[in-house]
Amino acid sequence: MNISEMLVPRVKNILPSGIRKYFDMINEMEDVISLGVGEPDFVTPWNIIEEGIYSLEKGYTHYSPNAGYMELRNEISRYLKRRFNLSYNPKNEIIVTVGGSEAIDITLRCLVSEGDEVIIPEPCFVAYKPCTVLTGATPVTINLRKEDQFKLTPELLEQAITERTKVLILSYPNNPTGAVMAKKDLAAIVEILKDKDIIVISDEIYAELSYEQGHVSIANFPEMKEKTIVINGFSKAYAMTGWRLGYVCGHPDLIGAMLKIHQYAIMCSPTTAQKAAIEALRNSDRDVQFMVREYNRRRRVMVDGFRKAGYDCFEPQGAFYVFPCIENSGLSSEEFCDKLLMEEKVLVVPGNAFGECGEGFIRATYATSMENIIKALNKIQNFAKRYNKKALAKESYVSSLV
Ligand SMILES: Cc1ncc(COP(=O)(O)O)c(C=O)c1O
Repeated sequence: MNISEMLVPRVKNILPSGIRKYFDMINEMEDVISLGVGEPDFVTPWNIIEEGIYSLEKGYTHYSPNAGYMELRNEISRYLKRRFNLSYNPKNEIIVTVGGSEAIDITLRCLVSEGDEVIIPEPCFVAYKPCTVLTGATPVTINLRKEDQFKLTPELLEQAITERTKVLILSYPNNPTGAVMAKKDLAAIVEILKDKDIIVISDEIYAELSYEQGHVSIANFPEMKEKTIVINGFSKAYAMTGWRLGYVCGHPDLIGAMLKIHQYAIMCSPTTAQKAAIEALRNSDRDVQFMVREYNRRRRVMVDGFRKAGYDCFEPQGAFYVFPCIENSGLSSEEFCDKLLMEEKVLVVPGNAFGECGEGFIRATYATSMENIIKALNKIQNFAKRYNKKALAKESYVSSLV
């Protein structure tokens, strides 16, 4: 039997993520400084870990209700109100999911199928397009531009909307660009969407990591509340990637439909993680603030470092990535990443892994120690002296920091 012929073409045709290759490469190498992985370098705060351990000791080793413990949904509801002024009823408007990842998948599965179009502004998180393709719907990408600070503009949105458009995925603060959309930017988008039957999937997983201004959700606009699905989670803000916990909030009719998929495909999210997450929401604001302050410090050093190496670096205002333009190196994004890894042992990932319009850029994360960042920037500066005709700095980056 030819197993490969048994596969559903939709699955067969999905390409592996453009980032994967680099993680496989560094597994075979020693002493690589990785600015590649999009996850916090911090360990989950101890009070949260302890609550997880304690829950196991107390015997919470069973299934929870399908939508998640009511106690946790209550806390999520309170948290969203106090942090972002969003109101969701914990009884029927919130599902606790296996990361934001599951939330993205089940939302799309509930909303679109063959014949529908999903608008995906790129560069963006790598899962949106494959998850859309798996439903049978068609992804319609928008190429966001650096000159617009990688924001979705009303003009670009309008050009992408057709009679078949059913969903727009909005993801700010953005992975990989670090762009944010302020209230006035969102207001222009709302003007276009308010009279249309288009649902917005607003992936707000980096909401806590907004450095210049408080996060605003498109669901804060009364005309959009009903049409928006808000996705958030614990991975980024609470350094809990391995616990696999997120949540999705929206209209009860949609949440009810999503719960059917969640119930049959997942049953419930991990019980230990749910117990730990209650503690995270109740008692970890100071830890989050500490981590955000730390990322913010590193963000400035990273932007400065890339600029000093001669690269035009957009100033990210959220998440934990920089997205510098590397065109003046004369290399493609992939060549740049390959050579930087082989010659300087620094891992960054090619911008086009996040959409074709990311060609000419690379993504580097500052969710790593300041020591690593400074070492990596020194190496990037050495690299730039060889490949970048406009390399500005002559001295090492370390000395220019002092
Ligand atoms: C924009 C965005 N959304 C969602 C996720 C998924 O996060 P998780 O499933 O860990 O909650 C990620 C992870 O990198 C992300 O960058």
